[in-house]
Amino acid sequence: MSGNPAPDQDRRSFLRLAGYGLGLVALAAGPTRARAQTKASNIKIGMVGAGRMGSALAELFVKAGYPVMFSSRHPDTLKELATRLGPLAQAGTVEQAVAYGDVVVMVVPYAALEEIGKTHGRVLASKPLVLDICNPIARRDGDDLVKWVAEQGGAGLASAKLLPGSHIVRAFNAISYRRVVEIAHRPGGLVGVPIAGDDPKAIALAEELIRGTGFEPVLVGGLAMGKYLVPGSPLADEHTAAQIRQIAAGLH
Ligand SMILES: NC(=O)c1ccc[n+]([C@@H]2O[C@H](COP(=O)([O-])OP(=O)(O)OC[C@H]3O[C@@H](n4cnc5c(N)ncnc54)[C@H](OP(=O)(O)O)[C@@H]3O)[C@@H](O)[C@H]2O)c1
Repeated sequence: MSGNPAPDQDRRSFLRLAGYGLGLVALAAGPTRARAQTKASNIKIGMVGAGRMGSALAELFVKAGYPVMFSSRHPDTLKELATRLGPLAQAGTVEQAVAYGDVVVMVVPYAALEEIGKTHGRVLASKPLVLDICNPIARRDGDDLVKWVAEQGGAGLASAKLLPGSHIVRAFNAISYRRVVEIAHRPGGLVGVPIAGDDPKAIALAEELIRGTGFEPVLVGGLAMGKYLVPGSPLADEHTAAQIRQIAAGLH
């Protein structure tokens, strides 16, 4: 079990960011959008997983000015990464990163989500956003898990079962860790990041974080559409926002 997650603090954090998310929804329609984006860098990001994709995303978030704590089951192995990324980055245990983050980025093998949900689910559910980068991959996570995910309706709805109550948005699921840092802020047109989620405030926060890292978020639908946010789907790899909208229009 996780330690005492200081529920009052969690609730305050949620309310602060939930209010912020509402503000973003309002601001997004108006001329003061740039002001909202500036404020976003106050958001602390807790990351569960700091492997290939986790360390690439941590680098993007740090470059965008967000304070980041990343974590794994072996936090001692992450000190070098923290040193490389500089003063905005630190390593911790999974429990510390989940507590630290105003939002939490989940970037672990899909098979780890069940245990993480059981151990940290209550704290995760208190956050206004859990960004779900994880994909079910048979060769890594096993055929049984991949079959189970399909039975739930795909990766988005399955993640919601594994992390009950969390405000999940799927994102960055099918851009390679080898490319994601170098294509951020692409001159001549940002690369689009398809996202899927059910919670408007979580979606607004996710969009803000993604813009901050130098990509154009494109909401393709609710968590049920998360089944298309996996490697090998028509939405995988690198597309402009317009291309993503066009591809997504043919999916359901
Ligand atoms: N690689 C890509 O290009 C890419 C792109 C998009 C999405 N993704 C998805 O992102 C996720 C991570 O992929 P990856 O390539 O970064 O994998 P990876 O290099 O194997 O890294 C996995 C990370 O998760 C940690 N981890 C594993 N089990 C854990 C647990 N039970 N609790 C906490 N941390 C745990 C590992 O650290 P410890 O073993 O030390 O705990 C490691 O830091 C996967 O779901 C993948 O499908 C990957």
